[in-house]
Amino acid sequence: GASTPGALLEIAVGLAREAAATARRLRAEAIADVETKSTATDVVTAADKAVERQVIEALRRLRPGDGVLGEEYGEAAGETSGSAAGEKHGGAAGEEHGAAAGGGAVRWILDPIDGTVNYLYGLPQYAVSLAAEAGGEVVAGVVINAATGDEWTAYLGGGAYRGERRLRKVTGPVELSQTLVGTGFGYDARRRAHQGRVLAGLITRVRDIRRFGAAALDLCAVAEGTLDAYFEKGLNPWDHAAGGLIAREAGVIVAGLDGAPPGLDMVVAAPPAIFQPLHDALVELDAAGGP
Ligand code: IPD
Repeated sequence: GASTPGALLEIAVGLAREAAATARRLRAEAIADVETKSTATDVVTAADKAVERQVIEALRRLRPGDGVLGEEYGEAAGETSGSAAGEKHGGAAGEEHGAAAGGGAVRWILDPIDGTVNYLYGLPQYAVSLAAEAGGEVVAGVVINAATGDEWTAYLGGGAYRGERRLRKVTGPVELSQTLVGTGFGYDARRRAHQGRVLAGLITRVRDIRRFGAAALDLCAVAEGTLDAYFEKGLNPWDHAAGGLIAREAGVIVAGLDGAPPGLDMVVAAPPAIFQPLHDALVELDAAGGP
């Protein structure tokens, strides 16, 4: 049917490619703008919003009953619930209406530009991340590095791909001390201070740390083995929905702490041999890291 994971992935890839093209195109305009009239941050925000609007409008045409959760506009329910595309309102309500209206309970989760600081600086690590959730589970996901055009895709049970190439199941290192670990920092100062303390404890136990600046791409890096593992506290669903599925389909364990699902509290992504030692170190350091 039209809502199989494979069909949803096909839609996601088409929309994400258009979104990536828009992000690339708007970057040139954004830079020109910075010099004349607006602050850098405003410009980036405008690009984020424009890309998100484009995807929401396309989804409204293609799949009017589905819900959408986007970074910039929040939750937008399907059209039969009476809310306009892009209107931000209560998360739970939007989710329910989106599910009911869609019949198939499909909700799209979108980060229009993941890695906005890289986008601003022209560092080629910013991405469009789009996932489809059905019955509360992520079933399809695409991440496109908008600067390079590299694409990662997965649908539930279908394996993970970089472009046309299927990613082999990750093996990775067997010791935490040989593990190259990616992470990221939120924008909130209090959270950053905590993240700094956790990192200070971890850096002596691992091979090294990387901070590339786009969570979705970090998860794809773990999927293809260019990073051994990744963790971050404070990630939102749009940061990890698509990349998390891609990593899982490549054999990576993606979870929160103490058996919780990956979420705001923590997202840990690591191959099976490394997951538990990294998880245990993070439990210890997270607790010791204070508020
Ligand atoms: C951010 C990036 C960054 C991560 C932050 C995210 P954004 O997303 O993924 O790597 O460390 O937590 O908020 O704001 O660029 O879409």
